[in-house]
Amino acid sequence: MRGSDIGHSGWWRSAAIYQVYVRSFADGTGDGVGDLAGVRARLPYLRDLGVDALWFTPWYPSAGADGGYDVADYRAIDPTYGTLAEAEALIAEARTMGLRTIVDVVPNHVSDQHPWFVDALAAGPGSPERERFWFRPGRGRRGDEPPNGWTSEFGGTPWTRTKDADGAPGDWYLHLFTPEQPDLNWTHPDVRREHEEILRFWFDRGVAGVRIDSAVLLVKHPGLPDVDPAHQPGDHPYVDRHELHEIYASWRRLADSYDEPRVLIGEVWVPDPQRMSLYLRPDEMHTAFNFDFLACPWEPARLRVSIEMTLRTHAQVGAPATWVLSNHDVTRPVTRYGRADTSFAFESKRAGIATDLALGQRRARAAALLAMALPGSVYIYQGEELGLPEVEDIEPHRIQDPMHFRSGGIDPGRDGARVPLPWSGDTPPYGFGPPGTTPETPLPQPDDWAALTVEAQAADPESSLGLYRTALRIRRTQDGLGDGPLRWLPAGGDVLAFARGDRFACVVNLSTDLVDLPRYDDVLLSSVPLDGGRLAPDAAAWLRLSPEPEANPTASRSAAT
Ligand code: NOJ
Repeated sequence: MRGSDIGHSGWWRSAAIYQVYVRSFADGTGDGVGDLAGVRARLPYLRDLGVDALWFTPWYPSAGADGGYDVADYRAIDPTYGTLAEAEALIAEARTMGLRTIVDVVPNHVSDQHPWFVDALAAGPGSPERERFWFRPGRGRRGDEPPNGWTSEFGGTPWTRTKDADGAPGDWYLHLFTPEQPDLNWTHPDVRREHEEILRFWFDRGVAGVRIDSAVLLVKHPGLPDVDPAHQPGDHPYVDRHELHEIYASWRRLADSYDEPRVLIGEVWVPDPQRMSLYLRPDEMHTAFNFDFLACPWEPARLRVSIEMTLRTHAQVGAPATWVLSNHDVTRPVTRYGRADTSFAFESKRAGIATDLALGQRRARAAALLAMALPGSVYIYQGEELGLPEVEDIEPHRIQDPMHFRSGGIDPGRDGARVPLPWSGDTPPYGFGPPGTTPETPLPQPDDWAALTVEAQAADPESSLGLYRTALRIRRTQDGLGDGPLRWLPAGGDVLAFARGDRFACVVNLSTDLVDLPRYDDVLLSSVPLDGGRLAPDAAAWLRLSPEPEANPTASRSAAT
């Protein structure tokens, strides 16, 4: 039985949540683009993988300026993906298979095609329609300098100048991301009301929760001042402001008003863990992505600090931790862990860095066992279970990600983690579409992915897919996993070893030597086969410990090494 079933209640405290990036998951209609029909056809795959919930990145009508995070209508489905009726059917079907649905809400900004923004442009300077956004005159004598010196999350200025009805240059509007994503003004009552209605719209359709995009950026200092590096916590002009908490408290009341309370999951990128935990107080969000762990290098001391800090700060507010290795914004773990610098940072993303993919794959397998054994919930980004590497050779004319373009081509962008999944066969599109179709996928798949397809891996328990399936099965059935306490076991400095429940242990060897294991009755799972009963470098093992914990010798370095 899981921790969540014993102690605190709430499925989300222990869940394994699978992130579906719809465009690239599976194509059910044969046009080369992933869609809801494709997801519905693959629901048995997700059920058999053993996850508890599916998080769908935005599936709403969008011009696609930022992978769907430019939403034109929050109550509909992009026609490329299907219809609202199909989404409703998908939510219901998934639920019958034990899979809950989480939808992405994007409250910081809308698409420039959204009726509110279209109306605001048409209505002109000083109009009430413009009050829902941040329109301001420019600086300088002719108003041709941006209203302030902020920097877009994608680089460059976050201001774009409009033209007035007569064609003359007019006011500027704020967009922390691309110009196609104007920021909303969260002091406007329409904005608050609208988002609560959007939440109700999806909650009423049976979704179990929402993932809140860019959750710490919504509120701006009304004066839009330049950033003062010495600002007080909570008083940055647009990041992590105090006023956000009241918004999420009101969302929580709404989520709690349902018979099965809905869940709020925040994309909370704030470096200070104490500041992050404020969003997880009992009357705000339920959980937030653990970006500290995601970005952490493959180094034992750093990982241990990240894990301990996560557990400590979450415990202070009674929230379960989350463990995330990847998502649609970051370099695939197999690639990242195969590099000299195994950390993740947007600032240092570059193409063409030397990568040892075999090493990366080995570490990614170990990292998966670590993440799935830690207390709380775990996220799996589509393709992670297949051990897909980052695709780094997408031809320039096929790149879609605005991050690439706005960096002047320095940042390779995020497309390499968004390539369509390989399902079967030996050549692209690897069964991405319905049988008999071979449409070109918008992002190209590599020619050497035949061994990475679901079909190729499904029958092999040693494959990455086999490892994930087994790990998720054990995680569901083994006493002490999911939410609940963790007890560190004595271990050598470069080894992470901890127990969950009475008898479960996870040991991760980040040293360069073989290490001994605590005394165990069974090896439940290991990321590579044990070597004479010892654990090899860059590997992890799940053990069923021998009954008397006090009799367990420590996981110490082997005398032979
Ligand atoms: C975070 C999303 O994960 C990312 O893909 C997107 O570009 C930004 N928010 C803006 O919505």
